[in-house]
Amino acid sequence: MTIPMNKRIAVLVSGGGTNLQALIDAKAAGKLPHGDIALVLSSSPEAYALTRAANAGIPSVVVDRKAYGSREEYTHAVTEALKGENIDLCILAGFMYILDTEFIEAFRNAVINVHPALIPSFCGDGFYGLRVHKAALDYGVKVTGATVHFVNEVTDGGPIILQKAVAVEEGDTPELLQRRVMEQAEWEILPLAAELFCAGRLSVKDGRVSISE
Ligand code: GAR
Repeated sequence: MTIPMNKRIAVLVSGGGTNLQALIDAKAAGKLPHGDIALVLSSSPEAYALTRAANAGIPSVVVDRKAYGSREEYTHAVTEALKGENIDLCILAGFMYILDTEFIEAFRNAVINVHPALIPSFCGDGFYGLRVHKAALDYGVKVTGATVHFVNEVTDGGPIILQKAVAVEEGDTPELLQRRVMEQAEWEILPLAAELFCAGRLSVKDGRVSISE
């Protein structure tokens, strides 16, 4: 009898890496039994996420956005850095750059992203990081949240895997709301979505995701 191999995960980061940490913690807690974090790829040499990877003994690579001109050139460099690593799943975990077709085709149906709002609200080009929470507060919504979705050619437009709602509270600032959305939603649904993918429980039909038992 052959035992199925765990899926090899690459986590792409740009900054603090709290979502990477949530994945590392989930693995340590036995909540990611079908996946292994094989590589962390950072768009910046300064990203604290690199320290988190080192502390967890995970290999990392920097593909510095500043060293490349166009989006196409940068996409090519990122794709090349991941090819040959036998990656089964790429997780965009606070990765702040949009990659184009070459990356999406190389990892078709094998890239997931965490977005800090309930898609289709407050998403698309220009909506990233604190800007998302500022837009939610400016609009006056009473509920926001986070979404994990497959990545396709449309920014934040791929099939939705999991979402979780979070209440907006009186006196919220973008920073306070960002923290609450991370704690109550992102750090929970991202590792869960990763495990569902790695366990082979996700299927996509007509742009919708089904989760099997
Ligand atoms: C997270 O809130 C993530 O959802 C968001 O950036 C933050 C990164 O934090 N991503 C986007 O806005 C992508 N559109 P982290 O580095 O601590 O995980």
